[in-house]
Amino acid sequence: MQLFLDTANLDEIREAADMGLIDGVTTNPSLMAKESGDPAGIIREICSIVDGPVSAEILSTEFEEMLKEATAVAKWHPNVVVKVPLTADGLKTVHRLSPQGVRFNVTLCFSLAQALLAAKVGAAYVSPFVGRWDDIDTPGIELIPDMVQMFDQHGFETQILVASVRSPLHVSQAALVGADVATLPLKVLKQMIGHPLTDIGLAKFLADARGKN
Ligand code: E4P
Repeated sequence: MQLFLDTANLDEIREAADMGLIDGVTTNPSLMAKESGDPAGIIREICSIVDGPVSAEILSTEFEEMLKEATAVAKWHPNVVVKVPLTADGLKTVHRLSPQGVRFNVTLCFSLAQALLAAKVGAAYVSPFVGRWDDIDTPGIELIPDMVQMFDQHGFETQILVASVRSPLHVSQAALVGADVATLPLKVLKQMIGHPLTDIGLAKFLADARGKN
């Protein structure tokens, strides 16, 4: 299973990349808006730090504009994956440009039916947002096993990229049921590393070693 970092912050990306823990990066317009610099420059800088897929989201919502913007964004760097919302125009954009080699991440997916459509048009990734389901008192992670089964059953090559991840539990549950990727904030990656028994065990080992000397 691959882990992507869900941020546009270069310091965070460098920190996670230095630990060898991330295979790619996802950004979205909200994350990009927190950073200074032009979007193409930020995305190229991210691509220079992480040698893997880097999702860059377009802002157009009408088909003709989406075609133009997606074509331009795809040229920013060979590792760019163009992110489009799961709308009729977004799906049409994927259908039109995927055969030309543009890779897409279809984002803001909240249902199995939506995921099926993203796979049908040939998206490289579909991003089910689990945390935003949780926010409205519905366990979003429960979508993922069915999505994995649906894609396996029909041989779809679209990768399931679990997004809107809020906890280590989301990541381990996604991994257990066979999601291809989870994208997570640095905070969650650090929460995955930490365990109180690791800290207690290490403190004891060091204390014992000091006592012997
Ligand atoms: C990833 O592609 C999404 O942009 C992101 O995971 C959304 O997360 P949020 O619901 O925490 O904003």
